[in-house]
Amino acid sequence: MFDIKIYKARRTELKKRISSGLILFLANHESPMNYKDNQYRFRQDSSFLYYTGIDEPNIAAILDIDENKDILFADDPQVDDIIWMGQLESFNEKAMKSGMTEVLPFAKLSEVLSRAKRTQRNIHYIKPYRAEHIFMLMDFFGKKREEVETQFSLELTKAIVVQRNKKSDQEIEEIEKAHDITRQMHITAMQMAKPGMRESEIAGTIEGIALSNGPGVSFPAIVSVRGEILHNHSHGNYLKEGDLLVNDSGAESCMHYAADITRTFPVSGTYTTKQREIYEIVLQAQITAIEQLKPGILYKDIHLNAAKAIAEGLKALGLMKGDMEEAVQAGAHALFLPHGLGHMMGLDVHDMENLGEEFVGYAEGQKRSEQFGLAYLRLARKLESGFVLTVEPGIYFIPELYNQWALAKRFDSFINYEKVKDYLNFGGIRIEDDVLITSNGHRVLGKPIPKTIRDIEEIRKK
Ligand code: GLY
Ligand code: MN
Repeated sequence: MFDIKIYKARRTELKKRISSGLILFLANHESPMNYKDNQYRFRQDSSFLYYTGIDEPNIAAILDIDENKDILFADDPQVDDIIWMGQLESFNEKAMKSGMTEVLPFAKLSEVLSRAKRTQRNIHYIKPYRAEHIFMLMDFFGKKREEVETQFSLELTKAIVVQRNKKSDQEIEEIEKAHDITRQMHITAMQMAKPGMRESEIAGTIEGIALSNGPGVSFPAIVSVRGEILHNHSHGNYLKEGDLLVNDSGAESCMHYAADITRTFPVSGTYTTKQREIYEIVLQAQITAIEQLKPGILYKDIHLNAAKAIAEGLKALGLMKGDMEEAVQAGAHALFLPHGLGHMMGLDVHDMENLGEEFVGYAEGQKRSEQFGLAYLRLARKLESGFVLTVEPGIYFIPELYNQWALAKRFDSFINYEKVKDYLNFGGIRIEDDVLITSNGHRVLGKPIPKTIRDIEEIRKK
């Protein structure tokens, strides 16, 4: 946990931002895999962690704005639980470390909420994403599922986003601890990969590194020679000479802050000429995008600049043609780059995605594009110091998308379909780093992880 002062200050600021009433935070529950007592790794809700630091299931917190009380609802384990799980720190002790003003039995929660409802006080809660929370809210408020899912507090959501979007120095330290573990995962993958190996050997090893050094991965590792499948979570392919391996993976720090890094390296040890040419385009687009980062600039513009750099690079190779400014405006580059340049990162790898990307990555009134590709951009807003975000351009050759577009002759004034055909078994390349926006620029977080062709080939040769 951070120091008690940090949690108290976070809650005080939140209560100041909300006009009146109660703020309800529900901790996550244990989640069964195949029967009740055989559970997935527990992961606390990130807002619960941010405001209380208490990393335990089946509890709740209420911040009473009008009476300025912070109440924890939790039941200490009984002997029956202690036999199986051991003696744990009491919730009174945990509440004390977090600076909560009161601890009540969990059963009191519905009483407190009923009383608030009777006296017509506002009860603010965030949009639920777990079934248990939806059921609890349905019970508390006597409402239907659709109602509890849509009647979350906009005021609370926006206030949390303002606070959590800006990372403090202590949070940056945590993210860099996550990055240290992640760096080890990436370097290990580069050192161990060889032809004949199954993707799962690498995925298992690096997820093991995350587990040996902290709570585990910040998302299921993407380790694949089919890099064109953007979120490929299956690890069943075998590595062979000539393949490119995309490793998009990250660990959590002990306090659950995330890192998220992607590297793409050759199974053979050196890149082929074709791979080298595409790699350099992605790398230059990524480096240039990072160089442009500073407060006050729209991330959407950085995304569009990177898309243009990629389109220009592809044009130089003869895969695209015409005016690349116009091509990007029309969305033709999305055949090769169908995703956004990056996202916010913090306690969640896609930070606060549960609260809604429209609040986290987009400013009030800033509309998300409906254009294919640009519509997937998670972060578009003006950057501010304290933001932590990813920069992750890529170039992919997705045969199914190619077939669909080529058949429809989509953007054929910008795309040289005959030439692209030669790349249909290429796979994909993505390069990703995590960056902090500082008061006058930016800082790439963590110690460097090999990224240039020379550095990657160097480590692969060893
Ligand atoms: N690292 C996976 C993603 O950013 O979506
Ligand atoms: Mn990412």
